[in-house]
Amino acid sequence: MFNIGSYEERVKDFSWSIAEKELDYKDGDVINIGWYCTDRICQQGKADKLALIWEGKGGKEKRYTFNDARLAANTFGQFLRDQGVKPGERVCLFMDKIPELYFSFLGVLKMGAIAQPLFSAFGDESLKVRLDNSEATTIITQKKHVSKVRRILADMSYMKHVIMVDYDGRSPLREREVAFDLESATPVEDFTCEPTFAETPSVLHYTSGTTGQPKGVKHVHYSLISQYLTSKWVLDLQDDDIYWCTADPGWVTGTSYGIIGPWSLGVTQCVLDRGFSAEEWYRFIEKHRVSMWYSAPTAIRSLMKAGDELVTKHDMKCLRMLASVGEPLNSEAVIWSEKVFGLPFLDTYWQTETGSMMICNYPGMKVKPGSMAKPFPGITAAVVDSDTYEEITEPGQIGLIGFRPGWPAMMRTYWGNEETYKSKFKNGWYIPGDRATIDKEGYFWFVGRDDDVINTGGHLVSPFEVESALLEHEAVAESAVVSKPDVVNMEVVKAFVVLKAGFDPTDELELKIMNFIRKKLSPLAMPQETEYVKNLPKTRSGKIMRRLLHAQEWGEEIGDTSTLENEDD
Ligand code: WTA
Repeated sequence: MFNIGSYEERVKDFSWSIAEKELDYKDGDVINIGWYCTDRICQQGKADKLALIWEGKGGKEKRYTFNDARLAANTFGQFLRDQGVKPGERVCLFMDKIPELYFSFLGVLKMGAIAQPLFSAFGDESLKVRLDNSEATTIITQKKHVSKVRRILADMSYMKHVIMVDYDGRSPLREREVAFDLESATPVEDFTCEPTFAETPSVLHYTSGTTGQPKGVKHVHYSLISQYLTSKWVLDLQDDDIYWCTADPGWVTGTSYGIIGPWSLGVTQCVLDRGFSAEEWYRFIEKHRVSMWYSAPTAIRSLMKAGDELVTKHDMKCLRMLASVGEPLNSEAVIWSEKVFGLPFLDTYWQTETGSMMICNYPGMKVKPGSMAKPFPGITAAVVDSDTYEEITEPGQIGLIGFRPGWPAMMRTYWGNEETYKSKFKNGWYIPGDRATIDKEGYFWFVGRDDDVINTGGHLVSPFEVESALLEHEAVAESAVVSKPDVVNMEVVKAFVVLKAGFDPTDELELKIMNFIRKKLSPLAMPQETEYVKNLPKTRSGKIMRRLLHAQEWGEEIGDTSTLENEDD
């Protein structure tokens, strides 16, 4: 029997108080995610149950019980307090998927500060703009990433502590740096959590938009209510599950469902801190007897590409549930997973901003391959007209997705950018910026994004950020960045570049430009192709028309070009 029972029944009598009751929470009570994910689970008699099975590079393996997790989070929390870090301050987590990342996240929450996880693959510039925005006072990082922090530290007066979790004493610590070693630190048995409340900020995740700098999505401790219940009903997490969420906590999936959801339910999870390889992934599932697997379409397409034979070489019978998030899950991938695992990947749709799953396929419900299926119970979702923001009731009509605000995990604002936050609400709907249709049976079908943001392998890249970075390259006079189709990543970044006089359009320069962006921003933001052009299509007012370049890449109709300036060129 699945946790959700009957979807229809749940929708009928839904109230978020179901989760509140299960979590023994009442309006006005203290609620601390760090406490819920560790102390409470230990109090429920699961102190000796495994919380984390971790595998790192070179085959290293570590195991932690819920009591270990509790102690590690306490020890981090106490260390931060001892450094003078105060509740409400932003603590950036800039690490690979090492155990310290998971436990420091909980430690930060326990002592009442705000966790700001960032991908460790981010380059100097990506890191700097996100820290400048949050004005984090503390960053927790590793030896291998500290050089990026050092290069920008002089310009970050707000940053007081650079904590290194694997300092080996080989070279002296520098200004503002301090070492913390979880394994040799004395475990802190008794730790009083900061009494945080429903609306106390918890996590700040950065997400990219079409224009402007990345936005810091502010979440609060009350988000736990949604994250707990969706993990229980959609991922169907049960006490004896071994759960694997492949996402990095630099991305919202890796915190909402790679830390908070499973651990608030007291479920054992695995983490693989290694690059992607189909063979490795199957071995990992087989070895740890993974039963519930939450992944993303690009990974699934990469597995498909690796072939069916590889699957049959491994014993995959341990799997009982598969789910996916981050980008459109094409019907082929769902059909393929049925064929090779005997289970469909259940597509789930949500966003950094929504904090928890919004439109999902549920265990036990009919799967229509290619459809995101139905709103989570308690969520009012619709497709609305893009001009009037009125609900479209006719099945099959394309419109913008809209949600009635009010679920617990909804963002509370964009950090320091209330204006943009407010602009996301129209006619009483929160507009996530995606287009969809609804069929006669109430199933949602994703159509596309309503902006220029590039979703490459499930990660959002802002064309504006890449264009700005390109302009800092000595050879680049002008640039325009769009997506181009890709078999595995669905979309990848493509740059159109106008060179400055004196630079030749060579392959060597293309490589240099790619590398420049990789280091400055991240490997994901790096253009997979650079096309040299003499000029860029612009409107008469001088705005670059990305739409035209996009249409060209995707072989689409170009549409109205009447405002185009240099159309004869
Ligand atoms: C896209 C990810 C199609 C969408 C948790 C959304 C999806 C953006 C799906 C959010 C899906 C996410 N099908 N598209 N199942 N899930 N998206 O903030 O455009 O990184 O607005 O959060 O990814 O990406 P974000």
